[in-house]
Amino acid sequence: MSRVALVTGSNKGIGYAIVKALCQKFDGVVYLTSRSEVLGKAAINKLNKLGLQPEYHQLDVTNRDSVIALRDHIASKHGGLDILINNAGYVNSVLFNSYKEEEKVIDINYRGVLTMQELIYPMVRNNGRILNVSSDCGHLSNIRNKYWIDRLSKKDLKISDINEFVDWYLDSKKSGSFNPDDLVDKGSIAAYRVSKVALCALTMIQQKDLEFKNISVNSVHPGFVRTDMTMKLGFLSTDEAAKTPVYLVLEAPESLRGAYVWHDGTVLDWFDHTANVYFTTKFARSWVLSSVIVNIKEYIFMWINYILEKVRLPITNKTL
Ligand SMILES: NC(=O)c1ccc[n+]([C@@H]2O[C@H](COP(=O)([O-])OP(=O)(O)OC[C@H]3O[C@@H](n4cnc5c(N)ncnc54)[C@H](OP(=O)(O)O)[C@@H]3O)[C@@H](O)[C@H]2O)c1
Repeated sequence: MSRVALVTGSNKGIGYAIVKALCQKFDGVVYLTSRSEVLGKAAINKLNKLGLQPEYHQLDVTNRDSVIALRDHIASKHGGLDILINNAGYVNSVLFNSYKEEEKVIDINYRGVLTMQELIYPMVRNNGRILNVSSDCGHLSNIRNKYWIDRLSKKDLKISDINEFVDWYLDSKKSGSFNPDDLVDKGSIAAYRVSKVALCALTMIQQKDLEFKNISVNSVHPGFVRTDMTMKLGFLSTDEAAKTPVYLVLEAPESLRGAYVWHDGTVLDWFDHTANVYFTTKFARSWVLSSVIVNIKEYIFMWINYILEKVRLPITNKTL
């Protein structure tokens, strides 16, 4: 029976690069998934042109029926899977966000993984590997509220604790009582930070739950990567950023479990809430400037491509 790997949100960005690298390195079937079939199939065509042959399935992690359809497909065609990378993600604007937008961030980045856990994890075979793509915004040091630092650090942490953490945040936004000092950087991109901290905390629970099948579950910060999410700014190309995620699911020692891994492969202490590893808008401003200067040629090429894609897409939509 073939081994099977699947990456969520892989029609573009880091997920796409992970699929590409897995097609080159993994001895088995690789699934590229996307919420839009048109975009997913366009990505498959691009990989086919490189001589790579991933399989495709539609997947919107916020749509239960879509996750069920994927589960049924994998169950009937392969009987299970061996590698799962929860990469799908969404970031809210730094400047202004409606409550709906904040909820969307939590739904995709955190609750979407809960749905995957419920419906897809039971199909992950013994000795499998699961990777949750988090962020520097997912390190515990993003939180400044002592009550939540203590509660999320509990040894017997439960999913209900994490759910209450995200609900606490959303309720505070809804009622207007959100205190920006509860997070670092005056609460910038707060929903994104909360969703990624929740995802890292969830990773450790998932690890404990899956020990009996010898499955490893880790989370990774992929680095500051030039994708649509960052408006093509960042220090790493998507191919560079895919290296550590691919290493973690194919080559990392089995003993690496429930860990929070930096983009260079270093394992960080997620519980160190005093660590200075979180994202700040001040860093971002200097990153933006220096990354534009360092990568000026690549940017010009990428932005031209980006504009061409936007022009081409309506035409591709009609022809696919
Ligand atoms: N880029 C960075 O610097 C950076 C830094 C830290 C962490 N990350 C994390 O890395 C991951 C990949 O980000 P990226 O930079 O590659 O972003 P990206 O280029 O914007 O790609 C995000 C992917 O997620 C998909 N997606 C969004 N909502 C979805 C849903 N409901 N169901 C399924 N797929 C969905 C998107 O699909 P559509 O094309 O349909 O929108 C897209 O394929 C994310 O989890 C992100 O938080 C990125």
